[in-house]
Amino acid sequence: MALTQSGSTGDHWSSRTAFILAAVGAAVGLGNIWRFPTLAGENGGGAFVLVYIGFVVLLGLPLVLSEVLLGRAGGEDAIGSVRKVAEHSNRSEAWKGIGALQITAGFLILSFYSVVAGWVINYVFVAGEDFLGALFSGNPLSVAFAGEDQATITGRMGDLFADPGKLIMLHAIFMAATIWIVASGVHDGIEKAAKWLMPAFFVLLVIVTIYGSFTGEFARAVSFMFTPDFGKLNPTALNEALGQALFSLSLAAGGLLTYGAYVQRDVKLAPTAAMIAIADTCVAILAGLMIFPIVFAVGLDPAAGPALIFQSLPIAFNQMPAGSLVGLVFFVLIFFAALTSSISLLEGPTAWVIDRFRFRRPFAAIIVGGVAFLIGVACALGYNVWSDVRPLGFWNIFADSDILDSLDGFTGKIMLPLGAFLVAIFVGWIADRRLIQQQTGLSGGMFMLWRFLVAWLCPIAVGLVLLFGLVPGLLGTS
Ligand code: TRP
Repeated sequence: MALTQSGSTGDHWSSRTAFILAAVGAAVGLGNIWRFPTLAGENGGGAFVLVYIGFVVLLGLPLVLSEVLLGRAGGEDAIGSVRKVAEHSNRSEAWKGIGALQITAGFLILSFYSVVAGWVINYVFVAGEDFLGALFSGNPLSVAFAGEDQATITGRMGDLFADPGKLIMLHAIFMAATIWIVASGVHDGIEKAAKWLMPAFFVLLVIVTIYGSFTGEFARAVSFMFTPDFGKLNPTALNEALGQALFSLSLAAGGLLTYGAYVQRDVKLAPTAAMIAIADTCVAILAGLMIFPIVFAVGLDPAAGPALIFQSLPIAFNQMPAGSLVGLVFFVLIFFAALTSSISLLEGPTAWVIDRFRFRRPFAAIIVGGVAFLIGVACALGYNVWSDVRPLGFWNIFADSDILDSLDGFTGKIMLPLGAFLVAIFVGWIADRRLIQQQTGLSGGMFMLWRFLVAWLCPIAVGLVLLFGLVPGLLGTS
């Protein structure tokens, strides 16, 4: 019953491990280390974390399996794969629109993701310079930014935002690195990058977490993250938790559909999908356990929002032993995580351009990455030259959003939930049941349970969140 695989890219992962590393690399990114702790901090910690985990298990995991299996069943780019499965199931070709929606979402996310990753690169440079200074003055274990006051340390972020040339330059560096890896191919680019960067990332993550547990307020961080205060749970928090689960698992933006197409026929997808979801969630929680002890150690606010890692943590590193070195390690770690994610965002649209226009891979990667770069330039200018621009200002939920926030909000609140909703409907109701079951490798009760989650729970839950996201005020959401 397997469909013939005729994707013109014709690529495959060299092993199951290679696929898992690449997919975990795609999942683990700025979302885990920057967005998750920020949201958990803003939404009161424990209760948010609990709801988040519930969403990952009940919605995220079944959807990861759905997307990877669609990709593998079709064996093409995201649009081609959905079209093939629809054809095989004697359904309308129009379902391929799911692929188009997802690829567009991935492309838009890439454009602003690269700008944020550029900020990370800036801090790699800042922390690197600081550490070299400490090293050459004979004190490699010095605090970060020795002798600076808080205003100088936090001021770096504002200085960066006020400098369009620098923002664009850093964004260009990151996009170029992403294009280079994707242009090098599935095997020699994406897989190799994941194979080196992900283990390095894990080692660094564990090092900084252990450091925080010794020098910071670990116990307080644990109780902050795991003591649920259900009074803090409001519809906005639920909405954010679901959006974050989709974003963090790299769902609904073409990445998993596309990576799934490179998975060999004999790989069992269900346990593989579980590993991806578990690894991603563990990293998000570890990231919280890395960041909050440090934040609490110097009495900073866990609800500082997006400035948490760029302003709060540098202040903390300024007061902690070996802060200079740890700060550098911390920002390098985030850079690695961001890079393995951005390549998955670029691979989706690039694979489509390769399949559709028969372009060679490097050319396709440059074209797609180049256009995404230009959109990112607009995001960067939104912090200075175009700071008054509100691209979706006519729409009440985005009325205050600058260019980057508008793209982030529109993709995260609308495109991702919509993409996930449609995948659930397609896999749960439209696609040929036998093909689907055979691809999952599940049988009996496990298949029934999975199908229930995909066909019923996902559309209802995601649909509700979409509705609340779109209709502010419906349940007190703003
Ligand atoms: N999951 C990544 C993160 O947490 C970001 C990402 C990569 C992504 N690929 C994606 C988000 C596809 C949505 C869809 O940083």
